[in-house]
Amino acid sequence: MSRRIRTPREGALTPEILVADGWADYSLLDSGDGRKLERFGRHILDRPDTQAIWSPSLSSVRWSTADARFLAGREEDGAGRWEATGRRAPEPWPIAYGPVRIEAQLTAFRHLGLFPEHQVHWNRVLAAVEQRARARVGNEPPTVLNLFGYTGMASLLPAAAGAKVTHVDASKKAISWARANQEMSGLSAAPIRWICDDAARFAAREVRRGSRYDIIVLDPPKYGRGPKGEVWRLEEQLPQLLTDCRALLDQRSSMLILTAYATHLSMLTLWRLVGDAFADLDGTITAGEMALREETTGRPLPTSLYVRWSRDA
Ligand SMILES: C[S@@+](CC[C@H](N)C(=O)[O-])C[C@H]1O[C@@H](n2cnc3c(N)ncnc32)[C@H](O)[C@@H]1O
Repeated sequence: MSRRIRTPREGALTPEILVADGWADYSLLDSGDGRKLERFGRHILDRPDTQAIWSPSLSSVRWSTADARFLAGREEDGAGRWEATGRRAPEPWPIAYGPVRIEAQLTAFRHLGLFPEHQVHWNRVLAAVEQRARARVGNEPPTVLNLFGYTGMASLLPAAAGAKVTHVDASKKAISWARANQEMSGLSAAPIRWICDDAARFAAREVRRGSRYDIIVLDPPKYGRGPKGEVWRLEEQLPQLLTDCRALLDQRSSMLILTAYATHLSMLTLWRLVGDAFADLDGTITAGEMALREETTGRPLPTSLYVRWSRDA
């Protein structure tokens, strides 16, 4: 039996920069001096950003309209505190994207429950779900596995489009937040399995069970812990996790998207890892950077790396 190796050869990668433009409930207003100014629904927030080492474009008066500013602590883990600027600190509030509602909150790690740059992947996942549903084999809905699923946007969107979703996260708090978002989005009846587990252990178990998925998305942190104290280190465990993800996909599957933040790994490394793990699976592998487009200047603020394996259903 001949094996079709579809991994692009060295030098064949054309990196793709995916820039999220924002939407009604999100825009990047400005960045500079190590910070970014964003609008999340009804609130304007000012948070640190290590990439934004250039000068801001908007005036300090405009920056002072932020409802809260995040002040980084001394620890390397990124923890710090929010400082309300004048008025009351924003209480949890809703952010809409298509049919999904996410409750935004000011967290101690500067995040808000939503990574808006992922917009560039949400639409592709949706298109893959729709395409998969059209090419449906039997009566089975398309299946999506969302590893390190956080507050659930990448689970709720495909579920709203008819997919059967398995959402895995190590944090009970994140799962409760995601379930609250499911309720708020009016998707209580959508078929989502909420699993509080270590992503790597869960994937390995799914391989042993012989499970399969049509689409896998994974947004692993650089460092994390499973519910039983399992240690996750991106640079050490990613190759095995990708091998397991490959085993969970088959000739009928259509997409895997991996995003990586705050890593010294190169996008070429991500591309090579997926190339190795997916060598026996037909399809295209693309890697590149993700960014947010600044509303005022149109310039991109880099956020993270990604690699995508995809194939038409
Ligand atoms: C959304 S990801 C973070 C990736 C992100 N974009 C960043 O800035 O690094 C974080 C999620 O992964 C979860 N997580 C961390 N370690 C995990 C593990 N070992 N297994 C499953 N989920 C884990 C966290 O609970 C959190 O909800």
